[in-house]
Amino acid sequence: MKHSSKSVTGIAALLLTMALGLGPATLSAETIAIIGTGAVANALGPAFASFGHDIVYGSRNPDRDSVTSLVARTGASASAATQAEAAAVADAVLLAVPWNTVEAVVTNLGDLSGKIIIDPTNPRIVGDDGLRDYAVETSNGELIQGWAPTARVVKAFNTMGWETMLDPGASGGPVTVPMVGNDDDAKAFVAELVRGLGLEPIDLGPIRYAHAIESLYLLWGNAATLGNPFQYHFRRAPRPQR
Ligand SMILES: NC(=O)c1ccc[n+]([C@@H]2O[C@H](COP(=O)([O-])OP(=O)(O)OC[C@H]3O[C@@H](n4cnc5c(N)ncnc54)[C@H](OP(=O)(O)O)[C@@H]3O)[C@@H](O)[C@H]2O)c1
Repeated sequence: MKHSSKSVTGIAALLLTMALGLGPATLSAETIAIIGTGAVANALGPAFASFGHDIVYGSRNPDRDSVTSLVARTGASASAATQAEAAAVADAVLLAVPWNTVEAVVTNLGDLSGKIIIDPTNPRIVGDDGLRDYAVETSNGELIQGWAPTARVVKAFNTMGWETMLDPGASGGPVTVPMVGNDDDAKAFVAELVRGLGLEPIDLGPIRYAHAIESLYLLWGNAATLGNPFQYHFRRAPRPQR
């Protein structure tokens, strides 16, 4: 395991607290675990750290060179650990992993009670004709809420590429981030992260609407397969007056 001295202290404190039977510890109100160290983690981790949050990356191999350099780029308070260790010390957990690994990942993260889970995943299967289709009956957002019923799941960041997360201005105007989830406080926390990135949050209701924003990915991907590639940006505009 590779981590900063701050997290060595934090994880030791967590293990001591658990050994004393005091239950899971919260080290800071602003510790965010980012599970996965790919494109989304590389975009959002350093950005969230720049707002003052402590970032702990959860990786299958936290000692890998690419993880070490991501931690160094993220800042002095950043660290890396196993996925379960990262989730244990965090208040919010971003699932920056492939959509079809989420069930195994979530069920291996330990006690997620009360934690905010941010879900940017887009489930899809690709048929013989190369077109993407729905991969789950409901949505990954709802499934995650079911696998972690006492956590507070917020679907967000799934309607844009990592490039837009890093540089919203490149889209030519404000970009809106649709969010759904059952817990208003959790959505308020994610909305602050969204605003910090220079994006605009919009609350579109409870987690049962996750399927609506997950389906946007299918349209985007299928248009490319059909020879009509496009980039889209969700953007609020005034409603026309009748
Ligand atoms: N790329 C985008 O622009 C974008 C935009 C919006 C949403 N998303 C969604 O966000 C999620 C992450 O996307 P990404 O582009 O960052 O993906 P990615 O570059 O493929 O990275 C995913 C990370 O997940 C971990 N991982 C891979 N396989 C795993 C497994 N079997 N079990 C547990 N962990 C595993 C890996 O980290 P370790 O090797 O360190 O464990 C890997 O770096 C996806 O669900 C994607 O659909 C992506």
